[in-house]
Amino acid sequence: MCGIVAYIGKRECAPILIEGLKRLEYRGYDSAGIAAIDGGLKRERCVGRVAALEQKIEELGGCEGTLGIAHTRWATHGAVTDNNAHPHRDDEAMGHGIAIVHNGIIENYSSLRTWLTGHGHTFRTETDTEVLAHLIGHLYKGDLMAAVQGALKQVTGAYAIAAICEKEKDTLVVARKGSPLIVGVGDDEYVVASDGSAIVAHTKQAFTLADGCVAKLTRDAFKTATLDDTPWTPEIRELDIDLAQIELGGFDHYMAKEIHEQPASLRTTLRGRVDLASGEIVLGGLTGFERELNRARRVIVMGQGTALHAGMVARFLLEDLAKIHAEHDFASEFRYRNPIVDEGTIALFISQSGETADTLAALGESKRRGATTLGIVNVVGSTIARETDAGVYLRVGPEIGVASTKAFTGQVMVAAMVALWMGRRRFLSQDVVKTYLEAMYAIPAAIEHTLLASDQVRAIASRYVDRENWLFLGRGVNYPVALEGPLKLKKNSYIHAEGMPVVFIATKNSQYEKVLSNIQEVRSRGGHVIAVATEGDDHVAGVAQETIFVPDVPEALQPLVTVVPLQLLAYHAAVLRGKDVDKPRNLAKSVTVE
Ligand code: AGP
Repeated sequence: MCGIVAYIGKRECAPILIEGLKRLEYRGYDSAGIAAIDGGLKRERCVGRVAALEQKIEELGGCEGTLGIAHTRWATHGAVTDNNAHPHRDDEAMGHGIAIVHNGIIENYSSLRTWLTGHGHTFRTETDTEVLAHLIGHLYKGDLMAAVQGALKQVTGAYAIAAICEKEKDTLVVARKGSPLIVGVGDDEYVVASDGSAIVAHTKQAFTLADGCVAKLTRDAFKTATLDDTPWTPEIRELDIDLAQIELGGFDHYMAKEIHEQPASLRTTLRGRVDLASGEIVLGGLTGFERELNRARRVIVMGQGTALHAGMVARFLLEDLAKIHAEHDFASEFRYRNPIVDEGTIALFISQSGETADTLAALGESKRRGATTLGIVNVVGSTIARETDAGVYLRVGPEIGVASTKAFTGQVMVAAMVALWMGRRRFLSQDVVKTYLEAMYAIPAAIEHTLLASDQVRAIASRYVDRENWLFLGRGVNYPVALEGPLKLKKNSYIHAEGMPVVFIATKNSQYEKVLSNIQEVRSRGGHVIAVATEGDDHVAGVAQETIFVPDVPEALQPLVTVVPLQLLAYHAAVLRGKDVDKPRNLAKSVTVE
């Protein structure tokens, strides 16, 4: 996930930007860069850690100026190289010294690039972001904000950007749609970042830029408006983050810290919401929606990755405790079907960040279809938290480790509270609720006890760490846990995931552009793409290492043809590995026993 930091004020920007990038390192990145304006525009970029960028800047004699932008890149378009790292600038021959950093994907970058090339632009990178920088430069007529607004009107896709121009030494322009961006408001300075952890050391006053809005920040004032220049007034609030929460506090890794924080974080999740004596659950975030929740006939729980695994547990809890029909769904797929949402449907969104694009898109789709929407979210004030009708915060504190740990337990705990809250209003007796609440209150101590086994678990891991393949099994409510285990293992140990060939179904259909973007992402990381593409599609054939063509058929029928190359692939692989293809080990033709 790319990270953005930008600064305008009276202090030297480079140390602030570098420190901010270090705070965003947890998001994951492969290269980093910075640009500042002093006399003119100066840029430094490099592959690797932010520390390497810092060293490079030092060796090259600094990066002076009180206006600057910086970025950690997670490659999507173009390989991981110094040259593809952000910031990107407008055309060197006919530009204006504009530099931008970008988080997101410009889906129509290819057609824009062709158009700009036709207008004399020369591109020096393979990125979608450089195309946006050139477009801004192309439209620039002495007003950076207007040029950014004009360019973004032509863009499809998601973005958070920060832009500077050497002809406007007192202006920082930022904009967002779909990707997060927060503006920290200090004394005669602004610190902008992808999340509050890069801002909180400088100021706690901040606003989240609304989707589709642009802000022009000068040193002591700001102007915010939509792309059409309709004024928009932000709400400045206090960031709910303490510096201590985002430090390592004696642990070697955030993941370890956050695993060990779980007893404390869950106590905070429960605190003030549950009255053990009366068996009452008070969830302030649901106030005003009691009627909808009481009348609900069905809940669809959605999220991605770990959040979806928590959602699968939530489904179980809702069925079991609230006795309401519940189902779970990948947020990423919801909008690509024709989902049935009728009166009495609650769409429940689970997310640590509150910014996951697919979850947000599913939220939009649910609202369009008339569902009452609920959020179970960690980051206060995040987009999902703001855009759902009602919801309950996790209160587990910032989760810095990429591997979601304490958020998962927080999500499950909140789901249990919501299920009991609903169940109590339907049929659960006070005594039954009290029994559950007591059990929930005992969970933090039970986790404390389990954490004592940490050394033993390390010893077990050391005995099996060289095994390439791991299998996880679980039943009932532990089935989602069995999915969560390998997700963690794959993410953190790279077991079963390195040097992987990636098979894409990239046939011509409504998702074609998005799949192409995904192929670019995999290619950027050195993945080997095997594509199943529509006959005659030279574009896919040009970007994939291997292409298997299938005939063009209507979208709804495509699975009938696209499955065939995959069946063949599985067959030949099994033969080449010398396997007993018709009688695979431990598998029966029909599974007739439990
Ligand atoms: C899990 O370790 C990952 N962090 C990932 O699967 C994550 O749960 C998923 O991307 C959803 O993120 P969210 O909770 O911020 O929406």
